[in-house]
Amino acid sequence: MNTLKAIHSRTSVAILTDPVPSKEEMEEIYKGALRAPDHAWLRPWKFIEVRGNSRKRLADSFIQASVASGEEMTQELRQKLEKAPYRAPMVIVLAADIKEHPKVPKIEQIISLGASAQNILLGLHDFGYSAIWRTGKMAFNQHITDALKLPANYEVIGYLYVGTPSGHIKSLPELELSDHLTRWD
Ligand SMILES: Cc1cc2nc3c(=O)[nH]c(=O)nc-3n(C[C@H](O)[C@H](O)[C@H](O)COP(=O)(O)O)c2cc1C
Repeated sequence: MNTLKAIHSRTSVAILTDPVPSKEEMEEIYKGALRAPDHAWLRPWKFIEVRGNSRKRLADSFIQASVASGEEMTQELRQKLEKAPYRAPMVIVLAADIKEHPKVPKIEQIISLGASAQNILLGLHDFGYSAIWRTGKMAFNQHITDALKLPANYEVIGYLYVGTPSGHIKSLPELELSDHLTRWD
């Protein structure tokens, strides 16, 4: 298995262009997403795949959420929100279908969706595509849940911007394992 090789070499890329994964490739990748660990098998993972011209609909949802939040819709802000989904040719909205459960709090369901998002990043990397996970004001609030017309219990935890790297790919950071690991031998 080359799993660790893929994990070690994955890096986020902010400047992304076409081509994007085919629907068939994405199905393989989502199968990986659905293998995320999941306490009590609550299956909290919901993805909205937004391609090409549909990004306008996402931009409209961003503007609607921003207005609903009470932010002053200046021309500058409107332009920023209109452009946001166009930072990549494909965007995957990550939403958690949060359920009441006596043993599984909301945070665990969100962590499970985070694990599934990492599986998507690795799957994209495996196929030779790149991505970056973004959040910002369009995550973790009811306004964006409503603007995307999702059920009220859904929590939007972020967005994967997906495509093919354009230009420079940053080098991998060199981290000191001992800063992160304590061994109880
Ligand atoms: C939950 C989460 C939210 C993030 N939000 C943003 C964001 O809004 N904007 C951004 O530039 N990077 C964001 N990042 C960081 C990038 O996705 C990426 O991890 C970072 O640029 C480091 O690159 P690397 O993954 O190659 O180490 C976020 C990461 C996570 C896990």
